[in-house]
Amino acid sequence: MLPRKDLLDIESLDREDIEFILTTAEPFKDLFKKSVKKVPTLQGKTVLTLFYEPSTRTKSSFEVAAKRLSADVTNFEVTTSSVVKGESILDTIDTLGAMRVDYVVVRHKMAGVPNMIANHFGACVVNAGDGYHAHPTQALLDAFTLREVWPGDELAGKRILIVGDLLHSRVARSTARILVKLGAKVGVLGPGSLVPDSRPPEMEKFRSYEEALRWNPDVIYLLRVQKERQGQQFFPSDNEYHSVYGLTTDRFRQVEAEGIYVMHPGPVNRGIELSDPVMAYDRCLINTQVENGIATRMAVLYWLKPE
Ligand code: CP
Repeated sequence: MLPRKDLLDIESLDREDIEFILTTAEPFKDLFKKSVKKVPTLQGKTVLTLFYEPSTRTKSSFEVAAKRLSADVTNFEVTTSSVVKGESILDTIDTLGAMRVDYVVVRHKMAGVPNMIANHFGACVVNAGDGYHAHPTQALLDAFTLREVWPGDELAGKRILIVGDLLHSRVARSTARILVKLGAKVGVLGPGSLVPDSRPPEMEKFRSYEEALRWNPDVIYLLRVQKERQGQQFFPSDNEYHSVYGLTTDRFRQVEAEGIYVMHPGPVNRGIELSDPVMAYDRCLINTQVENGIATRMAVLYWLKPE
């Protein structure tokens, strides 16, 4: 396995890299049960989080992950920085580069910004979500979560139905890619306006929930309706979306009876992607995904090697 400086997308990971990260995350998760949850792995290193877009899970998860590895963490606050005075991304990066940070975790609304920073900067760069393009640590934590349900090669052949706004979803792109790499089957369901024809051919497309449920999915992965990225109206109303593509109370009864697992990257829109009872379902993995984000991100920081 070659040492990597950056994690920018799932496409560039070999199966060996994915296995290394998922395997390394296991002992890090075991650490959470101990009274002292820290290891000295990144002592003396500095991790900078640089979020040009809002985040609850990813940003706090990286911060906790870095601190559990004993790194120093600096959160660059974009809204109170010179970015608001018009400073360019590269000038910001040059300034931060002069501070000799070791890792930069970046989120930006434009696809490709993490790649640009990685090419410009000697520190390790982790893409924490760029536009519609990629969210590789979400994909890794999703794979880790599913591997806890189906260890080792058991995930191969399992059917994951991704529902919703695939067009604007970096999560769907990255998570579908890692699942296919691990041998799972991926199906998609969503409004015609939000399921691009350019999706990979191995992803089966369904026209209705009923048709998708006849495919016997093992997991339903609900995507967030991303209104902030939708410059136009892609479906008539939230109520209509919920009734056609949401995990309504009625559909949930069938999902529960069949023991289908439910996932969602968060934050959830209750009454749109899902109904309240889903959150209390024992096979709802949404909070487990959040918990696993920390262990997986610890493994990513451990795996990356600066130049
Ligand atoms: N899943 C995810 O990226 O959530 P945040 O936007 O809260 O980071």
